[in-house]
Amino acid sequence: MTRDILIPHDDIVAKIEELAEQISSDYSGKEPILIGILNGVIFFFSELVMKLRIPTRIDFIRAASYGSSMTSSGAIRFVKDVELPLKGEDVILIEDIVDTGLTLCHIVEHLKSKEPASLKICALIDKAERRERAVTVDYCGFQVLAGFLVGFGLDYDEKYRYLPDICVLR
Ligand code: IMP
Ligand code: MG
Repeated sequence: MTRDILIPHDDIVAKIEELAEQISSDYSGKEPILIGILNGVIFFFSELVMKLRIPTRIDFIRAASYGSSMTSSGAIRFVKDVELPLKGEDVILIEDIVDTGLTLCHIVEHLKSKEPASLKICALIDKAERRERAVTVDYCGFQVLAGFLVGFGLDYDEKYRYLPDICVLR
């Protein structure tokens, strides 16, 4: 397999600064809880959180769905749930990449059952081509049409997460 750089590291960092600016102004005077979807989100999550100009609390959730294949199975189970109480809180769900939308839909339904005051979605990459479930990404870093992406936290079979750039795997 070969990989080509699609989004260089510096462009990712610049985009995250833009997202942080937007979120900071939208949530001015508030203290949202940011929930990262493990594992792929960790690099995006930490860059984003540290650039916000508002106080936040953080938590994580982990849903298993992918196995080692390049396509989503649609079968999802929660390996780790959030620990902070969400009732009445402003929640922002942070995801690395939205593909079919199945994972995110399951997680959104699950979090809504905890009765947050508001729930918005922030994703570094919105890959719209294979979307099966309508998902509104409120804060989107990059829209990518197709391809399997690795790097900056994204993996293929748990490999390549460490790459600083986002690359296309061929
Ligand atoms: P969905 O349920 O199809 O939207 O898949 C979402 C999850 O699949 C993401 O959180 C990623 O873990 C994984 N995923 C989807 N597309 C890619 C990709 O291009 N590279 C790496 N992981 C991906
Ligand atoms: Mg993921």
